[in-house]
Amino acid sequence: MSKQEEKISELIAKRAEARLGGGEKAIIKQHERGKYTARERIAMLLDEGSFEELDMFVTHRCTNFGMEKKHPLGDGVVTGFGTIEGRLVYVFAQDFTVLGGSLSETMAQKICKVMDLAMKMGAPCIGLNDSGGARIQEGINALGGYAEIFQRNILASGVIPQISAILGPCAGGAVYSPALTDFTIMTKGLSYMFLTGPTVVKTVTGEDVSQEQLGGASVHSTKSGVTHFATETEEEALALIRKLISYIPQNNLEETPLVECKDPIDRLEDKLNDIIPDSPKRSYDMYEVIAAIVDDSEFLEVQPDYAKNIIIGFARMNGQSVGIVANQPKVLAGVLDSNASRKAARFVRFCDCFNIPLVTLVDVPGFLPGTGQEYNGVILHGAKLLYAYGEATVPKVTVTLRKSYGGSHIVMSCKQLRGDVNYAWPSSEIAVMGAEGAVGVLYAKEAKTQEDPAKFKLEKEEEYRELFANPYQAAKYGYIDDVIEPRNTRFRVIKALNMLATKKQTNPAKKHGNIPL
Ligand code: HXC
Repeated sequence: MSKQEEKISELIAKRAEARLGGGEKAIIKQHERGKYTARERIAMLLDEGSFEELDMFVTHRCTNFGMEKKHPLGDGVVTGFGTIEGRLVYVFAQDFTVLGGSLSETMAQKICKVMDLAMKMGAPCIGLNDSGGARIQEGINALGGYAEIFQRNILASGVIPQISAILGPCAGGAVYSPALTDFTIMTKGLSYMFLTGPTVVKTVTGEDVSQEQLGGASVHSTKSGVTHFATETEEEALALIRKLISYIPQNNLEETPLVECKDPIDRLEDKLNDIIPDSPKRSYDMYEVIAAIVDDSEFLEVQPDYAKNIIIGFARMNGQSVGIVANQPKVLAGVLDSNASRKAARFVRFCDCFNIPLVTLVDVPGFLPGTGQEYNGVILHGAKLLYAYGEATVPKVTVTLRKSYGGSHIVMSCKQLRGDVNYAWPSSEIAVMGAEGAVGVLYAKEAKTQEDPAKFKLEKEEEYRELFANPYQAAKYGYIDDVIEPRNTRFRVIKALNMLATKKQTNPAKKHGNIPL
């Protein structure tokens, strides 16, 4: 064997060693846990054969607790770049088979390198998390590594899309990197995220709680809203990332990818003419409206199980990505509350960061009243949504289907919040408040003097409805640009979006705003 051949075999052997991560036994254990290895995940995530690995030979520098005797190649994270549907993405995947995927100073440097490249090149950065947290043997150096990552997450926010999948443990301060990214995906039963684990919880509060109950995918997708998606399997999680990426641009200076639209743009949907029930107290399903107006009825819902009174997600109209925000009359009558406001506000801001037009479908009776909401700060949370819409400069098309009352009318992308095109169905009720509430205030004294106060109130409510429960008061002032036939909604929204394609609007120069957090 020549010297060169020897060197090449050494390289091949080193590569094979690195590719084995923590070794065959650890890989078997990882599979027994029901999880894939970092490299298997990357292979599923990216286009076949597109992955280029970086820093395969990086090793840690720790000399504490016997660490000087083991130097696993790659140091517990696989990093590099590849493509999704031919588009460049950067990726890092923590390898649980190596020291539990724990984060060392050098692992952090590897992650930061791909984040820096992603920023330089203007391409999404995807993190696949599966880690026992800071590498305990390294102490403060591991903590510093986390902080370096967080700082990059913050600077990349709004510049390149950042997506995190949680495919195993993610505990302690480590949760903050995913929390700073745009979308988080968790696998049910296999992943968990919490600041302090069950043992500490037990010691501090006496509460007995399992990992799943404390921070499993089901908790974060329904109760806390920390995760945007919860999937049954890792395959599903990785496929979902591919799908999500298809709706968003590479960076804040690019437009979303245009897809060929085979669904006729002037498709009439007669069923929309009948979807609104005669009784204002009866509901209908907003998903049916969304499915009827978007291309091929395809809708990628974000946070489907959290604050279900508002629906958010991505769809396409005439092949163009749009962000849909819609009240759901089937859940709590579509009322806005703290969680719904926060959920929608973050989504509106994401779309605005990345040049994705917003289509807002309104059927909202108001904000949820009561001490529960007020003590919880609904004023501030509602203000977040108001702020998000008011600050957004992407094309904004709003369609009011039925109720649009009071503060919630304003918040849901009204004309004065720089709504570009605001349409309403004939069934719209755009007013300062609902008939019952208004009559209760306006005729409180007079009702008491009536022989039959209940009948009097009903008559007055009818009068109020006649006068205000329609779109024409708002249309009279130009707050509504047109009253449209429901079955034409798809066509009218697409025409509005086409018209808005060259929209240019900027906000006053400032360091940054002060959104009511
Ligand atoms: C070093 C770690 C590690 C860590 C796991 N390992 N976590 N090594 N630092 N943080 C190692 C284990 O010693 C073990 O090594 C291997 O990874 C696999 O772990 P197991 O315990 O065998 O796996 P499992 O039973 O599935 O349990 C997984 C786990 C558990 C729940 C994550 O390992 C665990 O509780 N780890 C510690 C978690 C933790 O407290 N992290 C917080 C660190 S402080 P061997 O050699 O036996 O295979 C922190 C603060 C961050 O994160 C702040 C950022 C701002």
